[in-house]
Amino acid sequence: MKIMVIGGGGREHAVIKKIAQNPDVEKIYALPGNGGIAADAECVAIGATDIEGIVAFAKENPVDYAIVTPDDPLALGCVDELEALGIPCFGPNKNAAIIEASKVFSKNLMKKYGIPTAKYEVFENMEEALSYLEDAPIPTVIKADGLALGKGVIIAETREDAKAAVKEMMEDKKFGESGSTIVIEEFLTGPEVSVLSFTDGKTVVPMVSSMDHKRALDNDKGLNTGGMGTIAPNPCYTDEVAERCMKEIFVPTIEAMNAEGRTFKGCLYFGLMITADGPKVIEYNCRFGDPETQVVLPLLESDLLTIMQAVTNQTLAETEVKFSNKHACCVVMASGGYPQSYEKGKLITMGNIDDYTEVFIAGAKLDEDGNLVTSGGRVLGVTSVGSTLKEAIETAYYNVEKISFEKAYFRCDIGKKAYREERRLKW
Ligand code: AMP
Ligand code: GLY
Repeated sequence: MKIMVIGGGGREHAVIKKIAQNPDVEKIYALPGNGGIAADAECVAIGATDIEGIVAFAKENPVDYAIVTPDDPLALGCVDELEALGIPCFGPNKNAAIIEASKVFSKNLMKKYGIPTAKYEVFENMEEALSYLEDAPIPTVIKADGLALGKGVIIAETREDAKAAVKEMMEDKKFGESGSTIVIEEFLTGPEVSVLSFTDGKTVVPMVSSMDHKRALDNDKGLNTGGMGTIAPNPCYTDEVAERCMKEIFVPTIEAMNAEGRTFKGCLYFGLMITADGPKVIEYNCRFGDPETQVVLPLLESDLLTIMQAVTNQTLAETEVKFSNKHACCVVMASGGYPQSYEKGKLITMGNIDDYTEVFIAGAKLDEDGNLVTSGGRVLGVTSVGSTLKEAIETAYYNVEKISFEKAYFRCDIGKKAYREERRLKW
């Protein structure tokens, strides 16, 4: 089989390494891929949002299956375009990708179908938003409606900060048109859990749960990032919580999307907060999370491509999806300065990585001499699998020490909170 994967981050590297394990796979194209993915697939210099370019490539280079992983091409209807060429795809159609592409859509969906989430109001007019904030409970959460690279969410601790955030989004257009409509919502507290799921619109199969570490600095300080590391499974996601999520959130969401005529097929990501009132949805993503995928897929024992095809063919109920009972930890190594400005073009050197560890490359390219050099903020993810969470964490950091590039930065506390929680629950 010839497979085409759209995207070029650590998540795509993890997906590509996994599908390459299927003996029927003879060729993988990555559009655009990256310098690390080049070792596992043929990279083609077509951007993930260049839908015309992707379609033109697929016409000239027939493929049997396409996997579309990033949010932008999904929201732009990449799957619809490829399906029109007769190529079966993994990923939701445009009309279902809206569950991530519009926060207003997803909040209204949850309200309409009684799916637990933070209380909220939608504003299209800045004066109305500002006047609402005069007596809204503080802290409050301000979200741009559209896609904003995970950065369109502001938690305001004071009324002044809240008003400033509204002005930045609606007046200064900090997130472009994404911020012309905003959601102001109730601030929730509790541990956060990410649950990626496979769904074919009939069945929903949650993958092993995970915990992201979104802030740039140790102890959850500093700016929000795309994610500085992950662990799986997430100890806060107990069997009892999992059962409630299935009944109150996962199944109702799939049914709600069907009822709206927007059947979701692909990976649906539930960003959850376990509040004192039970699990609530913080956000939906219409795709695999990154770096969540970098800990979830190494724990998948079943064949990924077979599962993806079952999602496409709506035969997921008859397909085995089995995860190991081990633990995984991913530490992201970033360019110093990320998520703000940083330098590029730094040579990456790697010692011997052990057998329990995989390195997924995200922001790196090959220079003229074929050396791997940094080209992005999040450069790579080091994922280790162990029998315990502690072992996974220690192995990941042991391997991180073998990788270097100038001004490399990583958090030193990935998994620490989870480890503490695991011990608290045990005792
Ligand atoms: P999102 O981009 O929607 O995932 O939001 C980014 C982060 O903001 C989440 O991971 C949460 O930590 C936080 N967040 C979003 N919504 C809320 C909320 N209603 N209450 C508290 N924290 C929130
Ligand atoms: N790591 C969060 C996300 O992929 O949205």
